[in-house]
Amino acid sequence: MILKKVNRLEGEIAVPGDKSISHRAVMFGAIAEGETTITHFLMGADCLSTVSCFRKMGVDIEITDSAVKIKGKGLSGIKEPSELLDTGNSGTTTRLIMGILAGLPYHFCLAGDESIAKRPMARVTEPLRLMGASIDGRGSGNYTPLSIRGGSLSGIQYSSPVASAQVKSAILLAGLNAIGETTTVVEPYKSRDHTERMLKVFGADVEESGLSVSIKGGQVLKATDIEVPGDISSAAFFLAAGAIVPESQLVLKRVGMNPTRTGMIDVLKEMGADMEIKYDEASMEFEPMADITIRTSSLKGITISGDLIPRLIDEIPIIALLATQAEGTTVIKDAEELKVKETNRIDTVVNELNKLGAEIEPTEDGMIIRGKASLRGGEEVSSHGDHRIGMMLSIASCIAEQEIKLIEEKAVQVSYPDFFNDLKRVSY
Ligand code: S3P
Repeated sequence: MILKKVNRLEGEIAVPGDKSISHRAVMFGAIAEGETTITHFLMGADCLSTVSCFRKMGVDIEITDSAVKIKGKGLSGIKEPSELLDTGNSGTTTRLIMGILAGLPYHFCLAGDESIAKRPMARVTEPLRLMGASIDGRGSGNYTPLSIRGGSLSGIQYSSPVASAQVKSAILLAGLNAIGETTTVVEPYKSRDHTERMLKVFGADVEESGLSVSIKGGQVLKATDIEVPGDISSAAFFLAAGAIVPESQLVLKRVGMNPTRTGMIDVLKEMGADMEIKYDEASMEFEPMADITIRTSSLKGITISGDLIPRLIDEIPIIALLATQAEGTTVIKDAEELKVKETNRIDTVVNELNKLGAEIEPTEDGMIIRGKASLRGGEEVSSHGDHRIGMMLSIASCIAEQEIKLIEEKAVQVSYPDFFNDLKRVSY
């Protein structure tokens, strides 16, 4: 795909549904009793992998233009699949589903694409084994394909070495099915809490205290209706674009503003972005939503580290681009998790953006970005099959002097199928 510089960006965008929340809505609906209706569901490839896995386990899921309807029959309605469960490119599908399968009395085989095969699963395999599950796979169960023989589980007290919502959620989902016993997960920093919020909406009792979350086993989920907020991780590309493209103003509608996800908003504010946020008061109880207006801004470099990292981990590729246009240097540290995302995002961000003229130095746990770089473009760059790298490079093309050629651009389908249409519609 050839992408060219734009003069300005203007218009309104209703970003697609949140990926994390869409996955969870399908999973919880599938193991709940009754009919769950999900609106503003993300029809991206990742969430469709979750749908396909549950269909293979006998769950009736109907997809129409406006909604996803799931006829849940409780955990006992899940059947032993006769085929491999294909989790595609999706870490969330792979890791969360492991927590559900671990407590079911069947055998399951899980595998995804080339990228999934390189991502560490021991962080989930180990606590699930401690709960009593039998899991095997390459590297002693660290890599797909995985074979899971589920069975009866016991609750555990687990201190997770990583602040990962996928790990926390897998353990909580397994804990939900550990008869009578309580499972507690403690994290080093708080990761996104969509699982805790949604379990409550599905009628489960979840206790939170600081960095620890506990769940009692043997609770039954009751079907409910879920409106998925717009994905702040998708909105992030247009928030950055609105700030760095001259003479721009973009309005992003109904963006999810869960405080465990709004690190990008904090960063924009600290960098000095011209931004307005209007909350939808009715949304505050489940997952808060807001309309965000962003205008061309003069930005300054900042340091991003510590407990801010889990609150913006998926936004770091686009924050790196934003920082190339700020006054001064931006330092990102404590972000070694970037190495085990869809690609090694320290390498892919640094290599691809530097090809365009950025000056970014990789570090062991992040990167150092020199500001006020003029992006010359005129190169071929690749998403490397990573949706967020593909979208970040497309936004870079909006300000690059010469056109760029983006390859493997189809990766954006994973989380934002209409991305190129939306970008075109607001480009002048
Ligand atoms: C996610 C958690 C994060 C995030 C991923 C989605 C989730 O991963 O990067 O895109 O839905 O729970 P980790 O749990 O590995 O940090």
